[in-house]
Amino acid sequence: MSQAPATSLQDIISHAKEYGFVFPSSEIYDGLQAVYDYGQNGVELKNNLKAVWWKAMTQLNDNIVGIDASIFMHPLTWKASGHVDGFNDPMIDNKDSKKRYRADQLLEGKAEEYREAGQPEKAQELLNEMGRLLGAEDLAGVRDLIIAEGIKCQVSGTANWTDVRQFNLMFSTQVGSVAEDSSQIYLRPETAQGIFVNFLNVQKSGRMKVPFGIAQIGKAFRNEIVARQFTFRMREFEQMEMQFFVRPGSEMEWYNTWKEARMKFHKAIGLPAESLQYHDHEKLAHYANAAVDIEYKFPFGFREIEGIHSRTDFDLRNHQELSKKKQQYFDSEINQNYIPYVVETSVGADRLFLATFCNAYTRETVGEGEGQKERVYLKLHPALAPVKAAVLPLVKKDGLAEKAQSIAQSLKSSFRTVYDDNAAIGKRYTRQDLIGTPYCIAVDYQTMEDDTVTIRHRDSMEQERVHISELKDKIGYEVAMERILEVI
Ligand code: GAP
Repeated sequence: MSQAPATSLQDIISHAKEYGFVFPSSEIYDGLQAVYDYGQNGVELKNNLKAVWWKAMTQLNDNIVGIDASIFMHPLTWKASGHVDGFNDPMIDNKDSKKRYRADQLLEGKAEEYREAGQPEKAQELLNEMGRLLGAEDLAGVRDLIIAEGIKCQVSGTANWTDVRQFNLMFSTQVGSVAEDSSQIYLRPETAQGIFVNFLNVQKSGRMKVPFGIAQIGKAFRNEIVARQFTFRMREFEQMEMQFFVRPGSEMEWYNTWKEARMKFHKAIGLPAESLQYHDHEKLAHYANAAVDIEYKFPFGFREIEGIHSRTDFDLRNHQELSKKKQQYFDSEINQNYIPYVVETSVGADRLFLATFCNAYTRETVGEGEGQKERVYLKLHPALAPVKAAVLPLVKKDGLAEKAQSIAQSLKSSFRTVYDDNAAIGKRYTRQDLIGTPYCIAVDYQTMEDDTVTIRHRDSMEQERVHISELKDKIGYEVAMERILEVI
């Protein structure tokens, strides 16, 4: 058995579509850029990822509870959070092709070219200059730098650039039935603010004591200028965020604790250590005093899947100021009132899905000589697989189909089980491999005599004979979420 060549993003996109994981949104109308739908298998995998994150946060930690806040929030929320004034990307258009780019990404691309050409110092110099200009909000300077670096549009091949403008990434809409009465609100660009504005509600109603955390899973929306790399950068996506409220001064300790805990989580769901790395932020977001990304090695390189940020008291303090409602906590241990500091963990459900999917996609050459063939399967952790077991009668006749159906029925209440009698058994195994089903249960003539079946293991393709009465416990044990949670 040998490993086939490296997987491309195109392999992933094609497999995801062909086997019901991810479809382009409104595809019959040629799709909508940077928006995707999860299919019948994709939604199961994504739900399993969300469930394991939720349990890891709220079940494994006594001091973390969950909430589900609305997407729409009072518009002042986004003023307080800094998103109205500061959630911008610098954009530039090419006048000939009309193609729009992110100015910082054009310069980062140029720096990458320098690095690839063995000029890392030049690359760093360019990035430093870009950082300086963006920090000083010198957009004309950013344009001059793009021109001085000879950067051209990929489509027109010209350097006929417009001015650089700041582009706010928030989507806005109106609430109110009559135009005159309506007011502008935003689709939330992060779920975190729903947690901040509920900090005191949860603290008081749950009698929570600092340090404690609030977790949430939900949709977020950003009008990304350059949307690419499949579900990596979308305009509508899902975040899994946890704000951990701590005593001021203890935030770096908690930051390091969460940095480690989150890496452990990613390894526990099956992402290999060598495909994960930390990336410390040099340029901090407006709200942070320390920040690190956890990056996964996608087919297009190491990219962020999760951010861990020490957000100080930035958000709660600004909400206190704008709402005129105190956001303080009385710490009875030290007899003091304070606005807690916050350490945030923020992972994109879609990026975690993509990382898990890319990691699971396996192409191997199996067999020898003439019998050699390529085998593709999804090596998903059994607890994450969309289908846990498939029951397959060797043939449909002589009562085998009925027997297999009754076995499938008996397992359904314990874990997701399907029945399939369509096509030769080899083809049916392949079908299950392609969606990552860890166990195939074959019903043959011996089953009719002694109530035993074979279990075929997806990864090794090995088969073992077991009694029907053992199936529920044996497979149930392997596919339980506990197998992940106990190693986090
Ligand atoms: N509350 C902090 C926050 O929103 P962020 O680094 O902007 O921080 C956190 O986003 C995570 O959300 C990212 O690590 C990524 O996984 C996910 N994410 C952000 N923008 C995304 C997009 N356009 N498409 C898919 N996922 C995205």
